Amino acid sequence: MILVVGATGQLGTAVVRRLAAAGQPVRAFVRVGSRHEHLRMPGVELGFGDLRDAASVEAACRGARVVIATANVIVPEGRTSFEAVEGQGYAHLIATCERERIGQFIFVSMPQTAHDAAVPAFRYKRLNEQRLQSSTLPYTVLRPSLFMDDWFAFIGDASVARGAAAATIERRYWFLQVFINAVGGLIRQHGIALLPGSRRVRHAFIALDDVAGFIIGSIGREDMRGAIFEIGGPQVLSWDDVLAIYARLLGKPIRAISMPRRAYRVLRALLAPFSESASGIMGLNWLVACDTPYDANALALRLGLQLTSAEQFLQRGDGASRDTSR
Ligand SMILES: NC(=O)c1ccc[n+]([C@@H]2O[C@H](COP(=O)([O-])OP(=O)(O)OC[C@H]3O[C@@H](n4cnc5c(N)ncnc54)[C@H](OP(=O)(O)O)[C@@H]3O)[C@@H](O)[C@H]2O)c1
Repeated sequence: MILVVGATGQLGTAVVRRLAAAGQPVRAFVRVGSRHEHLRMPGVELGFGDLRDAASVEAACRGARVVIATANVIVPEGRTSFEAVEGQGYAHLIATCERERIGQFIFVSMPQTAHDAAVPAFRYKRLNEQRLQSSTLPYTVLRPSLFMDDWFAFIGDASVARGAAAATIERRYWFLQVFINAVGGLIRQHGIALLPGSRRVRHAFIALDDVAGFIIGSIGREDMRGAIFEIGGPQVLSWDDVLAIYARLLGKPIRAISMPRRAYRVLRALLAPFSESASGIMGLNWLVACDTPYDANALALRLGLQLTSAEQFLQRGDGASRDTSR
């Protein structure tokens, strides 16, 4: 049995679907009240609970061979806190998995930056990496670069994810909705992209489906236990490169408006007294203005994965052409 914690999120959903399609028994950890109808399919058992509810975590882990953890509160639906979920919740999840002698714990983390301590989304990922490293669990940590599905939307093209199953950009979080409604049409309608930081910052942008591929490929691999992998690609692109691809595909130039890194840093501080999550999203934008030039092509080859380039990702169309059942 493979337990997926974060199953209703976009990455968890992609993982659950692939596992079910491959005939692997999977338990999807689902919060009561969350949208989960799209996870009802043969081979998928729903385990209702919440990372803040210790007993439900214990019940979900019982009998699991592998645990895949993608749950996070960066884009919260309802009131919550990083400390309650990614702090105490993950501490209990990891301790329970140790007690249950889980065969492999696959943790989806975040890139490492020089300022992780200042932004909860990054701080708690580092904390949970350390917890895994000092546990007895056979763990695999994956640190993906930026997901194309989210970041191409954030810079002005929400069509890449709209309508896709469980897309993060469609989560019911007011701050995100305001932001996406304001910028989501900029690239296609107005030929403008709003960049976090310099247009020369380089990332190994990765398609969400390929992140799911790396997760599933890690299952049961001895050579991926007790290790941290930075994943991304197939290419490392600057924002300028991304905009050149858009220009080619749309047949019109795309003008970049770069928000200075320090603007996000200031907004993070200004929003902090009012909303941890809104402040966190500004912090995220501040920190993604650092390069993540990961080369995971050798690992992808080992796992038999064919990674999607940014051009292929954009050519395969908007969310409407993808799996929309949810
Ligand atoms: N997007 C990127 O560019 C990027 C880059 C690098 C790494 N990552 C990492 O990738 C991972 C996957 O993200 P994603 O895009 O799939 O996130 P997502 O779509 O926002 O999903 C979040 C998931 O966490 C669950 N969750 C939240 N609070 C919970 C709680 N108290 N108990 C149980 N589950 C809870 C949510 O459940 P509900 O539906 O019930 O709220 C949902 O299933 C994250 O760890 C993220 O940090 C993302």
